[in-house]
Amino acid sequence: MGKGEILAEIKKELEENKSLPLFGANLVFGEGDPSAEIMFIGEAPGFYEDRDQRPFVGRAGKLLDRLIGEIGMKRGDVYITNIVKRRPPENRDPFPEELKSYKPYLAREIEAVNPKIVATLGRFSMNYFYPEGKISRDQGRVFWWNDKILVPLYHPAAALRSTSVLGELEKSFQKLKAVAAKFDELVKERKEKPVAEPVAPAEKSEQKPLF
Ligand code: URA
Repeated sequence: MGKGEILAEIKKELEENKSLPLFGANLVFGEGDPSAEIMFIGEAPGFYEDRDQRPFVGRAGKLLDRLIGEIGMKRGDVYITNIVKRRPPENRDPFPEELKSYKPYLAREIEAVNPKIVATLGRFSMNYFYPEGKISRDQGRVFWWNDKILVPLYHPAAALRSTSVLGELEKSFQKLKAVAAKFDELVKERKEKPVAEPVAPAEKSEQKPLF
């Protein structure tokens, strides 16, 4: 099965699994290049995402599109998804049981796309990879997560509310671009000089940032 077919299968299972929380809302599955090198992961769809059944199409999504453009890429070059695939009422934060129920689908989506770099948007998706992470401390840092690089980023919705957060997010996108450009070099360095720090047991992220 190709990547596109695997993703279509995951989507179909999400459509059919009536036991999932928030089942009454529209399904908002990931979209983009199934072979993308960079995967962006947000928390849950909002009003416009639910309406259009596409991730990141509201104001935060427009900002995300601009930031992707500023690193010389197009939205269609990356893959964009959320942990929770249906909108929580009134855009409230997802409940722990909602995160837990949708996580296995995200895990399969990541496995299918198999990106080199995972860029998380906001604390909920950062905590999926790095449960002890603190967004203000760790955003813009670069970590290994298994064979992938993890770059936690502020959520673009937070950047819409604060110019200083926007400035940090713009800087972190430049870092993301630099990391993507030297990914193969970083893998080589890692093989030659294996990191001595223990791998965090929970989700296997290495807690010491690379930069
Ligand atoms: N916020 C998210 O976390 N995801 C979306 O798809 C839109 C807004």
